[in-house]
Amino acid sequence: MKLSSKWRSPSNIALVKYWGKHANQIPANPSLSFTLKECYTETEVTLSPKKSDTEFDFEVQLDEKLEESFKPKIEKFFKAIVHEAGFLKEYHISIKTNNSFPHSSGIASSASGMSALALCLLSLKNQITGDEPKDFLQKASEWSRLGSGSASRSVYGGLVQWGKSANNPVSSDQFATPFQGKTHEIFKDFKDYVLLVEVGSKSVSSTAGHGLMNNHPFAEKRFEQAHENLSKLETILENGDLEAFGNLVESEALTLHAMMMTSQPYFILMKPNTVKIIDLVWQFRKETSTPLYFTLDAGANVHLLFPASAETQVENFVERELRPYLKDGRYIKDCVGEGAVEINN
Ligand code: DP6
Repeated sequence: MKLSSKWRSPSNIALVKYWGKHANQIPANPSLSFTLKECYTETEVTLSPKKSDTEFDFEVQLDEKLEESFKPKIEKFFKAIVHEAGFLKEYHISIKTNNSFPHSSGIASSASGMSALALCLLSLKNQITGDEPKDFLQKASEWSRLGSGSASRSVYGGLVQWGKSANNPVSSDQFATPFQGKTHEIFKDFKDYVLLVEVGSKSVSSTAGHGLMNNHPFAEKRFEQAHENLSKLETILENGDLEAFGNLVESEALTLHAMMMTSQPYFILMKPNTVKIIDLVWQFRKETSTPLYFTLDAGANVHLLFPASAETQVENFVERELRPYLKDGRYIKDCVGEGAVEINN
């Protein structure tokens, strides 16, 4: 009997950033993100009789072509979960994956990719053992975390927290949980336009960047600040204060990049056009009072965050003023989404 499982899992954008970790993918501070809708990975994993006696006999295809470069991170992930997924050693594992966003668009595919893979593997484990864990998504989030920290948040929709925080008794460093606070209506259909500034792979990977937070001169202060910002954001998300939201989120983005610039060795992932766009966003906001804010992930692309009611103004602004600064004029119109879904063929 052929065993297979297929999942679609989205990317997410952090408002309070995860940057720095301990052994075993334990985050140095809690983070909170919006799960996205249009940027996702679809992955199908099929198990068949083992073809070689290597520890893990597997192949990975991206867009129907073998992708050797993905194998080391996946093998590391298998090693991290094999004590709970012994079947990984007993089958040939075929992984077929594709992303909704353009290949090497600079959009981090590890959150969507690792969560899609973790969900497939947990479904397969259940097919083999015949039992369903009490909380499937919680376990899937825990496995996703072991593949890539930010992936832990992608299994759930809406606002998602990963990492223990004082105000939230269900929060955990082991897995993400849906945001427990009250959420003002305005945040329920928030938009995120992903502006593609730089395509291709980054000069420093996130994993290497996290490592540079060990012995970083400002690390302790930064971890403390992330806790404070999360607590402030809980209030903002409840009362719908967009100005306070934008202020906090933009500060988080710039702090993340400031940590990179003050690491040893130091590095810069922003590009001249990243800074140009930020400047134009600030100018536009000042002139029009449109509630438009930016955030950044670990790369040069800019995420524009705004309530759905401002979409027409923002779209005109992007088309008119920002497009010249985008790689091939490209951007993705995304919004808050519902989390991962299983795909039944
Ligand atoms: C800047 O989750 O990609 O996007 O755990 O090493 O795979 P690994 O790192 P990753 O780091 C994401 C960092 C970030 C902030 C965030 O998503 O919270």
